[in-house]
Amino acid sequence: MASYDVIIIGSGPGGYVCAIRCAQLGLKTACVEGRDTLGGTCLNIGCIPSKALLHATHQLHEAEHNFAKMGLKGKSPSVDWPQMLAYKDDVIGQNTKGIEFLFKKNKVDWLKGWGSIPEPGKVKVGDEVHEAKNIVVATGSEPTSLPGIEVDEKIVVTSTGALELAKVPKKMVVIGGGVIGLEMGSVYARLGAEVTVIEFLDAITPGMDGEVARTFQKILRKQGMNFIMGAAVQSVETLKTKAKVNYTLRKDDSEHQTDADVVLVATGRKPYTDGLGLDALGVKIAKRGQIEVDDRWATNVKGIHAIGDAITGPMLAHKAEDEGMAVAEVLAGKHGHVNYGVIPGVIYTTPEVASVGKTEEELKEVGRAYKVGKFSFMGNGRAKAVFQGDGFVKLLADKESDRLLGAHIIGPMAGDLIHEICVAMEFGASAEDVALTCHAHPTFSEAVREAALACGDGAIHA
Ligand code: NAI
Repeated sequence: MASYDVIIIGSGPGGYVCAIRCAQLGLKTACVEGRDTLGGTCLNIGCIPSKALLHATHQLHEAEHNFAKMGLKGKSPSVDWPQMLAYKDDVIGQNTKGIEFLFKKNKVDWLKGWGSIPEPGKVKVGDEVHEAKNIVVATGSEPTSLPGIEVDEKIVVTSTGALELAKVPKKMVVIGGGVIGLEMGSVYARLGAEVTVIEFLDAITPGMDGEVARTFQKILRKQGMNFIMGAAVQSVETLKTKAKVNYTLRKDDSEHQTDADVVLVATGRKPYTDGLGLDALGVKIAKRGQIEVDDRWATNVKGIHAIGDAITGPMLAHKAEDEGMAVAEVLAGKHGHVNYGVIPGVIYTTPEVASVGKTEEELKEVGRAYKVGKFSFMGNGRAKAVFQGDGFVKLLADKESDRLLGAHIIGPMAGDLIHEICVAMEFGASAEDVALTCHAHPTFSEAVREAALACGDGAIHA
């Protein structure tokens, strides 16, 4: 039996970051992981592999649609699917091995196996029980499914199976127009599949600024993606090599059916806490399965903390990372802090979509007086040069004080551009502060500055 200051259960972005920070702060640290590789869902079957496939298929799209325009003639590349999957696996390997290296460098012990908490202060991994002054649960989340749908990860898949399909399907139905559905739908649409997204609500990406969501859907439609909106999927029948998807339209309850070679179920995720023994310990769990924590990520049981997808809040790797660092600071006797008002969200399609802070809908709901500064990428020379004039930057600022309240970007590199506004918001900056900051020309980030100028006397290139 080994004895630690902290044992973290789960090595996803929340857990591994927490472990490294704990060790850096002088705590004797171990991290439990049952998978063969470190990094959790994000590195193994989520963020990282999906970005590899998005990158590869974006290159294909460029070759097919834009190369000739730039005077690059010749046959478009053909798809070697096994090689594309091998490239994705190589990217995963590089990243997961990177975490292993960081664990060694920081002297974090990897306890291999699935962990449980037989009693406070103890973590069981396999047959061994280890002592820990503090335990951090960072076990993440798993896909939800719907009643009437059986996932086999071959014909009816979650995001996990969607990263490993035996071949590119001719027809794919995506259930759920959220982040996973649209990212993975984009991958297969670019590879030539006929992709149909069936979404329960009347708009895609729930919670996103309405104007951005509408523009996003229009662009995806133009790229060839089909949408059936306001439709509730009732069941999926799996035949030998196909599936039939039954859905009803909410407006008139009419029943419909469509078939597909592959059905991707992307209707959300739920906390994964199976087998930890939390019930027996009396750890409070909320209705939707999240572990309840206080503002220092402590559960109601002394010495047990929780972070990431297993607690409330957006299920985002970077939110988990921030909580991982913050709880490490708390356990080391420092002051850990996460500003939940400034957590960016990014969808890695082309164009990318990114947001931070409040949406217009949220500001209206609380009756806050605000102003909008908008700038189209059509007025940005760099974006036009790379065929990405579709989209815009929209900044929301307080009507009186000009303080930035939110930013919503759809366009090239939106996921990177958003961070300028994240930093500005962390510093309580005004739109004018951004507008008065010199931005290099020609960059995509000039569109952010122009939107900030539009909050005041007006953009220059509009
Ligand atoms: P989501 O919550 O983003 O979207 C699920 C969608 O499915 C919703 O629009 C919902 O209205 C719809 N839906 C639910 N039941 C339905 C039914 N019966 N018929 C039709 N539509 C139905 O969930 P998603 O895309 O599965 O993602 C899960 C989590 O993973 C999210 O919290 C997301 O933030 C996170 N994630 C983040 C990524 C990123 O930051 N780029 C990438 C992938 C996942």
